[in-house]
Amino acid sequence: MELKRSLIAILLVLCTTHRCSTQSTNLSRKSFPQGFVFGTASSSFQYEGAVKTDGRGLTVWDKFAHTFGKVVDFSNADVAVDQYHRFEEDIQLMVDMGMDAYRFSIAWSRIYPNGTGEINQAGIDHYNKLINALLAKGIEPYVTIYHWDLPQALEDKYNGWLDTQIINDFANYAETCFKAFGDRVKHWITFNEPHTFAIQGYDVGLQAPGRCSILLHLFCRAGNSATEPYIVAHNTLLAHAITSDIYRRKYKVIKTRKKKVSRLKNYCILYNRFMDPLFFGDYPNSMRTRVGDRLPKFSADEAALVKGSLDFVGINHYTTWYAKNNSTNIIDKLLHDTIADSGASTLRKFIIVLSLLNDFLIQANAIWIYIVPEGMRSLMNYVKEKYNNPPVVITENGMDDSNSPFTSIEDALKDDKRIRYHHDYLSNLSAAIQ
Ligand SMILES: *[C@@H]1O[C@H](CO)[C@@H](O)[C@H](O)[C@H]1NC(C)=O
Ligand SMILES: *[C@@H]1O[C@H](CO)[C@@H](O)[C@H](O)[C@H]1NC(C)=O
Ligand SMILES: *[C@@H]1O[C@H](CO)[C@@H](O)[C@H](O)[C@H]1NC(C)=O
Ligand SMILES: *[C@@H]1O[C@H](CO)[C@@H](O)[C@H](O)[C@H]1NC(C)=O
Ligand SMILES: *[C@@H]1O[C@H](CO)[C@@H](O)[C@H](O)[C@H]1NC(C)=O
Repeated sequence: MELKRSLIAILLVLCTTHRCSTQSTNLSRKSFPQGFVFGTASSSFQYEGAVKTDGRGLTVWDKFAHTFGKVVDFSNADVAVDQYHRFEEDIQLMVDMGMDAYRFSIAWSRIYPNGTGEINQAGIDHYNKLINALLAKGIEPYVTIYHWDLPQALEDKYNGWLDTQIINDFANYAETCFKAFGDRVKHWITFNEPHTFAIQGYDVGLQAPGRCSILLHLFCRAGNSATEPYIVAHNTLLAHAITSDIYRRKYKVIKTRKKKVSRLKNYCILYNRFMDPLFFGDYPNSMRTRVGDRLPKFSADEAALVKGSLDFVGINHYTTWYAKNNSTNIIDKLLHDTIADSGASTLRKFIIVLSLLNDFLIQANAIWIYIVPEGMRSLMNYVKEKYNNPPVVITENGMDDSNSPFTSIEDALKDDKRIRYHHDYLSNLSAAIQ
């Protein structure tokens, strides 16, 4: 985890003509259609800090970050970039950069410290202040309802996303947000990267709540990588669908009466295992075949609720990898024969894809970020073709640098690699739109 204040602007930065003058095209706002929204994004746990302030409850990420050995540099998010106290300065930075929008997430445990039960008014008050401050500066809020920071109380009570009780608890929390903020927030995102928290949290165990069955009892204390990621993903899809239904039935109407055009803007990571249920009402066939009985099933009613339960697709796009089917690969065989679960298959792909096929590409700091700007264009075309041209919001994009104490501030501010990254990704996005 990088918890540096300077990271606030890694996402969708508009590259001005001046700074891009060394590049091959003159990219500017005019390269994009009128009304195109430029914004920046964050998540509550990574930004807010103030973890014990104003009645906030503990989250699975607080516990995970404070568990010995889980964070490489032993850092935690107790303070983070202190956005809880410094949001006004942060908003001014957004204004200075010419941003139109800010995507942030609400911390469930500020609204319901125990996940359910009594509402914590101080939490509501905080987000009211944030939303009003954004609107006062002409910045449109895009609100993520869940960005991985599950209240620890629900993890303790019934293992969080593994239990179907989470579906109604999430819907209740989301409805509280619609009631409290829906008069001003017109863009709602239910889940950030559901596939990531399913895989990282329950398959490989590298993120909260840190469950897995790879090297069980050495690396993770509990878990089942073969089944849990699918259960978590299934409950997430159902929670999304029910929340979307509540919004469309109850809150969209109120807005229409106020003559504001507003739709629930739901988010789903581009990953066929999430996209296919949302667009077609079921998991892909290839997934059914491979996963078999471990894959939960939708009832007819559930399938109907899930299908079409989004108004736009939110895509976090950072990188593109080359991959190929190589059934003779030794690592593949070894892992496949020893741990035949989804954890093994993730690990296997990671090892093969990253090490063998992509060596020639330029990398950012994170081992998984290869800089492949054409990937933006081909991804946009893929979404258009496969899912019948839905509205798309790029909810995240960007690259990281190494956190080197030896880099001078002057060198850091030159930022040539990142300027080129944004220039090339944005020009490919512009080309895709055209
Ligand atoms: C970019 O703009 C400059 C100055 O306006 C112009 O001279 C140049 O031809 C432009 N380059 C391209 C590729 O359009
Ligand atoms: C949360 O649960 C704890 C332990 O059950 C209880 O003491 C506390 O009052 C609860 N807090 C809220 C806000 O419901
Ligand atoms: C991968 O290759 C093997 C052996 O050639 C084949 O049996 C398998 O179906 C292929 N898998 C995919 C997904 O193409
Ligand atoms: C498959 O992977 C092995 C390494 O495990 C490599 O020797 C072989 O050349 C690869 N085959 C293909 C078709 O790429
Ligand atoms: C897309 O990105 C590539 C670099 O990957 C760049 O060479 C190319 O000019 C970009 N294409 C467009 C249409 O901007």
